[in-house]
Amino acid sequence: MGDAPLAIVLAAGLSTRMKSKTPKVLHPVAGRPLVTHILRTVRAVGARPLVVLSKESAAARELFDDGTRLAIQEVARGTGDALKVALASANGDRGIAFIVYGDTPLLRPETLTRMRALVRQGDAPLVLLAGEVGTDNAYGRVVRDEHGDVARIVETRLATTEERKLKESNLGAYAADLGWLRVAVERLRPNDTGEIFLTDLVAEARREGKRVPVHLTDDPEEGIGVNTRADLATAEAVMRKRIRDQHMLAGVTFRDPDSCQVDTDVRIAADVVIERGTILEGQTSIGAGSRVGPYAILRDTTVGERCRVENSTLEGATLEDEVSIGPYSHLRPGAYLERGVQMGNFGEVKNARLKAGTKMHHFSYIGDAEVGQRVNIGAGTITLNYDGTKKNRTVIGDDAFIGSDTLLRAPVTIGAGATTGAGAVVTKDVPEGMVAVGMPARSIKKADRRQKKAT
Ligand code: UD1
Ligand code: CA
Repeated sequence: MGDAPLAIVLAAGLSTRMKSKTPKVLHPVAGRPLVTHILRTVRAVGARPLVVLSKESAAARELFDDGTRLAIQEVARGTGDALKVALASANGDRGIAFIVYGDTPLLRPETLTRMRALVRQGDAPLVLLAGEVGTDNAYGRVVRDEHGDVARIVETRLATTEERKLKESNLGAYAADLGWLRVAVERLRPNDTGEIFLTDLVAEARREGKRVPVHLTDDPEEGIGVNTRADLATAEAVMRKRIRDQHMLAGVTFRDPDSCQVDTDVRIAADVVIERGTILEGQTSIGAGSRVGPYAILRDTTVGERCRVENSTLEGATLEDEVSIGPYSHLRPGAYLERGVQMGNFGEVKNARLKAGTKMHHFSYIGDAEVGQRVNIGAGTITLNYDGTKKNRTVIGDDAFIGSDTLLRAPVTIGAGATTGAGAVVTKDVPEGMVAVGMPARSIKKADRRQKKAT
């Protein structure tokens, strides 16, 4: 276990204020479940998380199949009770522990590090995170005594009008000495609401004559706790801005940052330009020198270097370098476009590989196919990949020329260097170098066609 501090993450409770069938901690923020953000934060300071879940939040269990320690709070009796449950399953841990809430996604790692230092320096049993966030909110208020020392925390719903006017709020992150915590938590009693409040630990420490130092953050947004859908939207907006700012610092241009949305795990290289209205989701990555947008949606898509993607939707697609897409194209899962492929407007590619240098400029659908290098796909070409029961493959050889409005009834193979005439309905394989014309298409020698042209 070494020196790694324990981080108790409270993620049980009923989440009634969300009015949702989905547990609160599973609602996504910036493309990841709410609770995973605080987990990243505690891991960033080298802490080992122990997550408290309830029956209601049990659906979140699958997030933690990576060996993260879990404890189950049978009945949601309040944050103090959740802490008890956690401590009961952390018998072997010693030293300093963090206690955080699963619904505060914006907490910064630096803040936890400072709080930990405060426990050590002040020889304090407990350190609080507070922020000045105005008086119109549901946070607990920090009540100080006549000497200015923290005396207790009072929840807004139980506070007097005077207490509600207190400027300092409890932002819900704590660093504490585990030895002290184990004893103190046993002294917590349910209050008038029937709940056990973790925040009563402050008064508990004071009863023992101990001081409770406060770390007052200069960035109160980091304490935003998500209780309602409105909080969720606020947290999302702050998180999104943070993500964009990080990318900009790392050399990415955002032409109109507020109009763009980038998920947590997206990777963008330096010298990428993101144009207005662009949405980058999931495990998307974009290589150096590429320009994406305006109005592009990329989901779980890999874009190489020096690519151009304009006003298109790309899902589960891979683009090698110097690929150009759009406007108005749709790449679906399994689309793999090799170097230099050009795909113009109103094209759709699904589960298909387009090899280097292939061009597909207008109104075409290529699905379940392998298209060779330098192929020209004429306007309106369609692979008829579905025969009503199963999907069939189309194979097109290198340097083939697919005439406009060609229908390729799969399974079918067009040989290398072959040509299809405009409007051809290809139902049989076309041998290498031949020309297929008509409906259904028949193959003739390329030379015949040239001779005809000549006359
Ligand atoms: C809590 C604090 C409040 C603080 C605010 C900061 C208490 C009593 N109040 O209030 O002072 O200003 O956070 O955001 O702690 N949970 C459990 N088991 C339970 C109840 C809750 O695990 O029985 C978990 C929830 O999943 C949640 C966290 O604890 O992630 C906090 O609970 P919540 O009900 O949201 O507390 P707040 O009212 O926001
Ligand atoms: Ca909360």
